[in-house]
Amino acid sequence: MKIKAWAALERGKPLTEWSYDPPSLAPHEVLLRVEACGLCHSDIHMIDNDWGQSRYPLVPGHEVVGTVLAVGSGVSELSVGLRVGVGWQRSSCLACDDCLRGNENCCDRIQSVIGDGYGGFADHIVMDSRFCFPLPDQIPTEHAGPLMCGGITVYSGLRAAGLSSGQRVGIIGVGGLGHLAVQFASRLGNQVTVFTTSENKAEEAAKLGAHDTVLVRNGKPAKTPSRSFNLILSTVPAALPLESYLNMLCTDGALCMVGVPNEPLTFSLFPLLVKRRRLLASPIGGRAQMREMLDVAARFGVRPIIEKFRLTEINTAIAKVRNNTIRYRAVLVPH
Ligand SMILES: NC(=O)c1ccc[n+]([C@@H]2O[C@H](COP(=O)([O-])OP(=O)(O)OC[C@H]3O[C@@H](n4cnc5c(N)ncnc54)[C@H](OP(=O)(O)O)[C@@H]3O)[C@@H](O)[C@H]2O)c1
Ligand SMILES: [Zn+2]
Ligand SMILES: [Zn+2]
Repeated sequence: MKIKAWAALERGKPLTEWSYDPPSLAPHEVLLRVEACGLCHSDIHMIDNDWGQSRYPLVPGHEVVGTVLAVGSGVSELSVGLRVGVGWQRSSCLACDDCLRGNENCCDRIQSVIGDGYGGFADHIVMDSRFCFPLPDQIPTEHAGPLMCGGITVYSGLRAAGLSSGQRVGIIGVGGLGHLAVQFASRLGNQVTVFTTSENKAEEAAKLGAHDTVLVRNGKPAKTPSRSFNLILSTVPAALPLESYLNMLCTDGALCMVGVPNEPLTFSLFPLLVKRRRLLASPIGGRAQMREMLDVAARFGVRPIIEKFRLTEINTAIAKVRNNTIRYRAVLVPH
C-alpha cells in the first residue's frame, strides 16, 4: 500500500498528488487513516520555506483527525478504531527537563509533523502514539483538527501571558488562530477586544464573544481603547507596530506573540520598562496542556468556524488563506 498525499515538490509551488511507501511501524508508532485535516498558516510558511527548515517533497497538514488503523508492538494506550487528533508536534525526547516538566513543546529535540516526516494532507499518516490525543466525543471530527494546532497555540499562549478571568484581553488578527483565541478568552470570563484589518469581521467577532473591535489601517490600530489590557495576543503572520500595542498594556501586562512575522522585530525598550511590561512568544503547547485545552473546548463550546474542502481542492484552500478570504479555518476532507 502506498500513502497517497498532496505535496509541494519545490519551494512555493502548488501542491500536487504524490505518494510514498509507508515506513514500517516502530514499536511506539501508529498508522492513522486521515478523516479531516485543517490548513494552518504555518503550512504556508513551510511551503514557502519562510523558516529555512523545509524539505521537499513537503506534505503539509498538521491539524489531523485520524482513526487508528494499526498500532506498533509497544503501544498500549491507543487501540484500533480510536479517534485521535495530531497537531504540529511529531515527537520529542521525553527525557529532558522540559519534557519531564510537561514542556515537550520546548524540547531541544522536538520534531514536527511536516518538517520531520509527511503530514496530514494524505489518506494516511504514521505518527508517534505519544503525540496522538484521544478526542472528546462532544467535538465533531471536522471541528477537532483546527484545535490541534490553532487551538492549543492560542490557549497555551494566553495562559503563558497570564490569562485567568475578569481580565481585559486584546486579540490581534481574527484568522484561524485569532477566532479561536476570542472564544477561549471570552468564554473563560474575560472582556475581549479584537484588532482586525478586515472591517467585515467585526460582526462575527462579536458573535464569537468579542466586546469590541478596533480596525487596523495601514498596519496601525485606528484608536487606542480607553482602558488598558492585562494581556494581548498577536496571531498575525506579519510585522506589527509593537510599541503601539505595548503601550496599551497595564503595569505587568504581557504581549504574547504566536503569529510569526517574517522580519526581525525592532522596538524601543521604554514601553516595556516604564510599566514592567512583558513581551513573550509561545510555541504550540505541551501534552498536558493539550488535554486541558481539549477539555476546556469541549465544556465551554469553543468550536472553529470552518470552510470544508475536498483534498483535491487543496490549492483553492491555500489561495484563500494566502489572500485572507478564508472564514475562518479551511478543513480538508478526503471526499
Ligand atoms: N506559535 C506557534 O506555535 C504557532 C502555531 C500555529 C500558527 N502559528 C502562526 O500564527 C500565525 C497565524 O496563523 P493562522 O493560521 O491563524 O493564519 P490566518 O488564518 O491566515 O490568520 C492570520 C490573520 O492575521 C491577520 N493579518 C493582519 N495582517 C496580515 C498580513 N499582512 N498577512 C496576513 N494576515 C494578516 C488577518 O486577520 P484580520 O483579517 O483580522 O486582520 C488574518 O486573518 C502564522 O504566522 C502561523 O505560522 C504559530
Ligand atoms: Zn525533551
Ligand atoms: Zn499550525
